[in-house]
Amino acid sequence: MKKIVVVGSLNMDYVIEAPHMPVCGETLSGRSVTLVPGGKGANQAYAVGKLGGDVTMIGAVGRDSSGRALLNNLKCVDVNVSGVAQIDGGTTGQAFITVDDNGDNAIIIIAGTNGMVTKELIDEHIQIIRESAIVMMQLEIPYEVVEYVKKIAVKEGKTVIVDPAPAAADLPDDFWKGIDYIKPNKTELAILTGLPLETKEDLIQGARTMLKKGVGHVIVTLGGDGCMLVEEGTEAFFPSHKVKAVDTTAAGDSFTAAFALALSQGKSCKEAISLGQKVSSIAVTRKGAQTSIPTMAEVEM
Ligand code: RIB
Repeated sequence: MKKIVVVGSLNMDYVIEAPHMPVCGETLSGRSVTLVPGGKGANQAYAVGKLGGDVTMIGAVGRDSSGRALLNNLKCVDVNVSGVAQIDGGTTGQAFITVDDNGDNAIIIIAGTNGMVTKELIDEHIQIIRESAIVMMQLEIPYEVVEYVKKIAVKEGKTVIVDPAPAAADLPDDFWKGIDYIKPNKTELAILTGLPLETKEDLIQGARTMLKKGVGHVIVTLGGDGCMLVEEGTEAFFPSHKVKAVDTTAAGDSFTAAFALALSQGKSCKEAISLGQKVSSIAVTRKGAQTSIPTMAEVEM
């Protein structure tokens, strides 16, 4: 099994359960607020670790209770956290998540120490990247750091997987060159391409726009409608597993993590998508981010 490194964010999630999303100007009674370990980067590292992969995380937390809790949670599933800096006086990243009765969510993140991840921190841990075959990133740490890591990873011949979330419309075209896999959802793909994506043909067109920018393979996740893989000259659709979703938080993170794990075990892209779908279909039936991730034994049941 090849080594995976996740370079990304760690957040403490403040999860509010509410009957529906508040609309502008509305005061709404929520049912509960729960603290759950999260952050797109940490969720991916945690999921790879829990599923049995060999994974190291690079990122930053504060020397506060949230930072300690996040590191401990990663260690519990054998994630190597030697690349996570603990920043004196910094506040660990936070995410404020509303989950409604349909299991849908809306998230506001406060970067905190995720915004303090620097190129110097990457240089300090360059050996971790050199020793890894797969480099996973998202966009919750400073863009210039993601771009820096991508350039190093491409130069060193690593498999690069980017979850382009939160999506930004103004990323330079050059950024996408050399990235092997991106995994946007429909909304993120629309932001990245600036295209209205209503139909299946629109989605294929949107994904092809990203291929033209230099991405190797585009996997568009479509929630209950499954996902789509678009590559040079071909596209394929994968229907979803029908489950009752209670909380979709980290559905994408668990998908990407399982996908990367499968690649690290020498599986094909389609086999990796299949594992991603199995894992995320379990994660959405459970509450929270890292609390929702299954073990491989649960996936194989
Ligand atoms: O993808 C889900 C994650 O997004 C949450 O855990 C939250 O921390 C935000 O980063």
